[in-house]
Amino acid sequence: MPRIHPLVDSSNFVSLWELPDESWNDRWDRIVVDESVKDSLINYALLSLLTLRSSSGVAVPMHRMVLLEGPPGTGKTTLARGYAQKAASMIAAENQSTSIYVEVDCFSLSGELLGVTPRSVSKLLEETIPDLAKEADQIFLLFDEIETVATDRRSLSLEVNPVDVHRGTNAFLTGMDFVATELPNVLTIMTTNYPENLDSAVLSRVDIDHALGLPDRSAVRQIMFDTAGELAGLLQWEDDDGAADAAVDAAVGMDGRQIRKAMIEAAASDRQVALGRARLTWDLVAASLLRRRRTTDAR
Ligand SMILES: Nc1ncnc2c1ncn2[C@@H]1O[C@H](COP(=O)(O)OP(=O)(O)OP(=O)(O)O)[C@@H](O)[C@H]1O
Ligand SMILES: [Mg+2]
Repeated sequence: MPRIHPLVDSSNFVSLWELPDESWNDRWDRIVVDESVKDSLINYALLSLLTLRSSSGVAVPMHRMVLLEGPPGTGKTTLARGYAQKAASMIAAENQSTSIYVEVDCFSLSGELLGVTPRSVSKLLEETIPDLAKEADQIFLLFDEIETVATDRRSLSLEVNPVDVHRGTNAFLTGMDFVATELPNVLTIMTTNYPENLDSAVLSRVDIDHALGLPDRSAVRQIMFDTAGELAGLLQWEDDDGAADAAVDAAVGMDGRQIRKAMIEAAASDRQVALGRARLTWDLVAASLLRRRRTTDAR
């Protein structure tokens, strides 16, 4: 993954990569969500960055903002990165263009000292991003856990919460309006676990919003077999359909991250399996899933 040394590194708020980068493909391919979600995301990128790049902002008021919301471990951050890669490679296939992926560190952006947040947000959106937007044909900008920056202003009491949060959200809105009118080559992706904490003016600017929920049974199965396929390279895999079904049943209701981690835990639960000398069985996987479930329920 080539990391560019940016003109802007002094800000410390962003990390940058050149895309397309084939090593990122699995961030798209291996996140199991409804195909209609992936189609909608790609179509939106093609529409906003290719077809409607120079349309009137009044007739077609696009902010080129996409929101992925959902509980922890449902693939939002991974899919957001994969989305940038997939869109960058599809656009490059159309016109050989270049893309830069910019990931914002929302936590370092929202400082505790008075005035830090709005200043950092404005600097990022009105200086750093415009500079970067000159360096590539497209910019994919990720605000991971956006609620830390664009907090719902109504939920804040001015007495208890710093005015800074208000100003931070205001600066974000103004900055995104600036990006929308001045930088038609920037597509912004935001993720959140707490859409209810996001300011309504931010939500109103979002063009496409997808909720990633917990995987259903068929998605659970796909995620488990995908992990099994990867483990099969390292371990010997015993393929027993009945036992696999029981393991899938044990995983329904968990998020994708927990499911994959339970399978790693299963492989680590037996020394011989860990050494690649014994078979990892679906029974071991089911046991590890049930253990995880008990721990979570006990909390
Ligand atoms: N829908 C899914 N399909 C396949 N794998 C998944 C899915 N959801 C999560 N995973 C696995 O969990 C890992 C972590 O997911 P990720 O960090 O993207 O989730 P997230 O929604 O951003 O979580 P958080 O809200 O805690 O930040 C992924 O890299 C992947 O291995
Ligand atoms: Mg995340």
